[in-house]
Amino acid sequence: MLKNKRLAVLGCGKLGETLIKGLLEAGVIEVANVIVTAGHQQRLEQMRERFGVAGMLSNKAAAESADIIILAVKPQTVPRVVSEISDVLRAAQMLISVAASVSTAFIEKHLSAPVPVIRAMPNTPCQLKKGMTGIAPGSNAGREHVALAKFIFDAVGRTVVADEKHMDAITGLSASGPAYIYIIIESLAEAGVKVGLPRDIATELAAQTVVGAGSMVLETAEHPAKLKDMVTTPAGCTIDGILELEEGGLRVTLIKAVVKATQRAKELLET
Ligand SMILES: NC(=O)c1ccc[n+]([C@@H]2O[C@H](COP(=O)([O-])OP(=O)(O)OC[C@H]3O[C@@H](n4cnc5c(N)ncnc54)[C@H](OP(=O)(O)O)[C@@H]3O)[C@@H](O)[C@H]2O)c1
Repeated sequence: MLKNKRLAVLGCGKLGETLIKGLLEAGVIEVANVIVTAGHQQRLEQMRERFGVAGMLSNKAAAESADIIILAVKPQTVPRVVSEISDVLRAAQMLISVAASVSTAFIEKHLSAPVPVIRAMPNTPCQLKKGMTGIAPGSNAGREHVALAKFIFDAVGRTVVADEKHMDAITGLSASGPAYIYIIIESLAEAGVKVGLPRDIATELAAQTVVGAGSMVLETAEHPAKLKDMVTTPAGCTIDGILELEEGGLRVTLIKAVVKATQRAKELLET
């Protein structure tokens, strides 16, 4: 679906690079069809050295030359970049914004033409094609635009199409989520060290346990509680571990973390 389509990534920072790496490695875009922009020339040179992609400082020229534009600047920078590209965008193009907090209505209001806009919220494991992305169409986006955006993000992981009202929640759960899971992995590894395991072995045990448990949930489609019960032998050791987790408030802490991050996601455009 992306054959011969030109892709511009405006604001190629950590997430922009993650997407480009994933898409190039998945073979769904050709390096010659990609152009990136950044705030500084140095960043463009980094991207050229790492991936061979062309870069320029002009968002306007890059956007004008592309069929699909991924807007990947910080939420606070979105108004400026959207006003720069507003006059050159056409209805035949498609704009995908990965900026947290910024609604499709906000972007549409500042564009001159009825450009199809998709709001997307990916996460950093897209770099390994194990990402999780939520996408929501704006008012000018049709099924074909949703399908194209889904094709792009499916190349770097899994994609759910959601109502836009859920995008802040997706930001607080799966976009911020890798950070929560790294802390859990780090803590499990620390626990392994406490009970005598070498750190490298403890880290591998913890990380692969998270991968395996996640795959069990996705591939068996069983409720996580049922899978947890399968590990929990009566009077065994797992139930003792679970009692400690409950006493420490792990569930409530994780719920509160997602609620707070979701609330913060609503404010990013203004602050
Ligand atoms: N990181 C994540 O896990 C994640 C997940 C989902 C969504 N997002 C969203 O992705 C967006 C980018 O996040 P990030 O973590 O990738 O931030 P980042 O690393 O700071 O990237 C932002 C990039 O924007 C560039 N930039 C700044 N001003 C610009 C301008 N006027 N024109 C063009 N480029 C400009 C910067 O260039 P210089 O480096 O040259 O200054 C930088 O490369 C945010 O809106 C965020 O909400 C991030």
